[in-house]
Amino acid sequence: MLFPKVESYKMHLLLQLLVIVLAFISLEHEAITTHAQPYTSVVAPVFKHTDAAKPLYSVQVLMSPDHTNQLSHENLIIDFDAPFIWHKCIVHFDTYFTHCPSNEICTDPVSCEDYQCTDVRTLYSYKNPTCQPETNSSTLPYWGYCTCPVNVVNPVTGSCSQGDLNNDAFTLSTSDGRIVGVDFFNLYYGAYPNAVCVHSSSLESFPANVSGVMAFSTSNYALPINLLGPLKNTLALCFPSKPSAPGVLFFGTGPYYLLPQSNVDVRSYLSYTPLLKQQDSFGYFISVISIVIKKRSIDIPANTTTKLSTIDPYTTLRTDIYNGVVRRLSKVTKRLRPAKPVAPFGLCFSTSTTGLKVPDIDFNLPDGKKWTVSTSNSIKQITNDVACLAFVDGGATSEHPIVIGTFQFEDNFLEFDVQNSTFGFSSSLLSKKTSCANFNFTNSP
Ligand SMILES: *[C@@H]1O[C@H](CO)[C@@H](O)[C@H](O)[C@H]1NC(C)=O
Ligand SMILES: *[C@@H]1O[C@H](CO)[C@@H](O)[C@H](O)[C@H]1NC(C)=O
Ligand SMILES: *[C@@H]1O[C@H](CO)[C@@H](O)[C@H](O)[C@H]1NC(C)=O
Ligand SMILES: *[C@@H]1O[C@H](CO)[C@@H](O)[C@H](O)[C@H]1NC(C)=O
Ligand SMILES: *[C@@H]1O[C@H](CO)[C@@H](O)[C@H](O)[C@H]1NC(C)=O
Repeated sequence: MLFPKVESYKMHLLLQLLVIVLAFISLEHEAITTHAQPYTSVVAPVFKHTDAAKPLYSVQVLMSPDHTNQLSHENLIIDFDAPFIWHKCIVHFDTYFTHCPSNEICTDPVSCEDYQCTDVRTLYSYKNPTCQPETNSSTLPYWGYCTCPVNVVNPVTGSCSQGDLNNDAFTLSTSDGRIVGVDFFNLYYGAYPNAVCVHSSSLESFPANVSGVMAFSTSNYALPINLLGPLKNTLALCFPSKPSAPGVLFFGTGPYYLLPQSNVDVRSYLSYTPLLKQQDSFGYFISVISIVIKKRSIDIPANTTTKLSTIDPYTTLRTDIYNGVVRRLSKVTKRLRPAKPVAPFGLCFSTSTTGLKVPDIDFNLPDGKKWTVSTSNSIKQITNDVACLAFVDGGATSEHPIVIGTFQFEDNFLEFDVQNSTFGFSSSLLSKKTSCANFNFTNSP
């Protein structure tokens, strides 16, 4: 079924043309010349959501619900593991999308006979024992082909449900790394991966304002591999620490800038370490050699791979490693008043004294590289009186001995190069007097 995909592609070209024409009408000649520089990246805001059982982060993409030139904002949970993108939409066979129900996003179906259907079901599927078999049962009015139902696993509840494979279209704003919409001729960039349309019941326990899952994994159906040219395969992410101001995501190798240092490329803050592949996972892994607190090293078994997770809110350590970290941190924070632990944390402090500060927790990586976790990423304020070490005990037999979670990502700049398998990290940007909430989104659509 090539036809519907071509059709939606054409619609997007039309949309881009419309934008250009409108811009020509509204902009004066001078403005045109100052904006006529090519883009180096695409950019999107990243939101923190605190209204679900755990903090989650979303990226905001633009979509055209009924393939007109109207763009809607859709927030999709950032997921480093997901094999493909899925969100609330319907597959709808209607060449010109004139009958798309209001409040729905309509996309073209993929047929059960298309190779993508088998590909997603076999090589790029969620592996979960609670999932039902994927059958070819449903057909679509006026279309005559069977659709391609596939399983999706809700990252909040772990429950499995089914949606339909589609030909999707996501729109992002272009950037020069400094501002939004720098390239006058290409204000928008379209990405056309296959994704999955789900019913709203698949989004149970999601934050409000979030309508799906954005796969940023190494899968062939995740977004990084589905972008073109210099944008392909390089993803930079900066998670905000508060829901009130967005962080930022870039595709493209940079440069990247955060205010107020409008001339410092954030890449100058990055250290790099190899990304490791792990069988049966599309996620990202690095090697951590030791965890060091005040010059004392906590033992980590050799060849331990460390997972980077956007679904785990706090760094999770296998019990032996966790106990070592807590023991050492307790020892070097004797002057702080302990508080009764607040679940899921095991080490808490009373903060009636102002300005709680604990020693850095250093993750030592190969080749002498070091990811420093300073107080803003190690201690979470729970109430006015209590703050806790934001690391949790993953149990004695946890699948991954170390999982670095999102609290430790906040206000750190992270760059994933999927093709070259390298991971760049800045440690806390706060020590550089900037933060993830400092991208200039002034011109955002
Ligand atoms: C679905 O249909 C396709 C194409 O006819 C076929 O190859 C595949 O085996 C079918 N799958 C199931 C689960 O019936
Ligand atoms: C949802 O989005 C609306 C509009 O952007 C905003 O006013 C509201 O605060 C958001 N709600 C939550 C829970 O984030
Ligand atoms: C660690 O990995 C290296 C290379 O893969 C291997 O030679 C070594 O035996 C491994 N060590 C342990 C303790 O598994
Ligand atoms: C990836 O590796 C290629 C070949 O070694 C190199 O040309 C390219 O610059 C690298 N990309 C990045 C982002 O470092
Ligand atoms: C943010 O970008 C806008 C244009 O997109 C520019 O006019 C403004 O000066 C920038 N703000 C800062 C603080 O640099």
